Amino acid sequence: MKYDLTGKVALVTGASGGIGLATAQLFAESGATVVLSARRTDLIEAEAKRLTDAGHSAIAIAADVTNAAQVETLISGTVERFGRLDYAVNNAGVIAEATATHELKHEDWDRQIAVNLTAVWVSMRYELAQMVKQGSGSIVNLSSVSGLRGYAGLAGYSASKHGVVGLSKSAGVEYAPQGIRVNALCPGFVETPMTAALVNDPAGQDFIKAANPMHRAAQAEQIAGTIVWLCSDESSFVTAQALAADGGMTA
Ligand SMILES: NC(=O)c1ccc[n+]([C@@H]2O[C@H](COP(=O)([O-])OP(=O)(O)OC[C@H]3O[C@@H](n4cnc5c(N)ncnc54)[C@H](O)[C@@H]3O)[C@@H](O)[C@H]2O)c1
Repeated sequence: MKYDLTGKVALVTGASGGIGLATAQLFAESGATVVLSARRTDLIEAEAKRLTDAGHSAIAIAADVTNAAQVETLISGTVERFGRLDYAVNNAGVIAEATATHELKHEDWDRQIAVNLTAVWVSMRYELAQMVKQGSGSIVNLSSVSGLRGYAGLAGYSASKHGVVGLSKSAGVEYAPQGIRVNALCPGFVETPMTAALVNDPAGQDFIKAANPMHRAAQAEQIAGTIVWLCSDESSFVTAQALAADGGMTA
């Protein structure tokens, strides 16, 4: 085991694929009980079954993170079932097609802010309430390199991810005296369904190579490793940070 998280309870939103699924897998392999959440019940139930069949502890609870009542049920359901919540990874996210800022559709702006930012705050409301009761916990919110600098064509996504950085830093400072850590993780390009069109296009690969000092995109498992480390006690003095996991892209 890379980490011994035996007895810990971890929640991962957006766990049906990409970074979220790789993170759920690593939590499970590290001995934690993992709650996989996403909108599609069939997808997360299949992944939870795959993990339990392999001898790990995992369940699926479906929720649309833009629905506050479903998020409340997700977190209360986790606590009712397992008695606690040690780690929360607010990972569910969307990106709209790149477009000039003045041509960005209002609905694409609203959707990115709703899923990437407002839903992270709503999730944290319930996660923090439980962690305050426990006097412990660690939250990792998925931001992006787009939360650290601007990228042409991505104003809406970038605004939402900058918001996640501000939210995480403020909450990190606020809850530090109560034994709760909150950090934002800012990946660069990662090979997932979200970036499939870019990664599978030769011009996209050239773009990624040119943009990144490592000349490649990350694998989801590499980002999962950083997330689980950031949740674990191995990073116990790290809080209120926006940490880049970007192959040197923003340096
Ligand atoms: N892939 C990258 O290059 C990259 C880079 C930086 C940051 N990120 C961020 O990392 C996170 C994960 O991205 P990914 O690349 O794995 O993407 P992905 O598209 O593979 O996975 C996103 C997950 O979020 C879920 N989701 C979307 N809307 C939801 C909603 N309303 N309710 C519940 N679940 C919802 C999807 O079902 C899926 O499980 C996102 O927040 C993304 O913005 C990704």
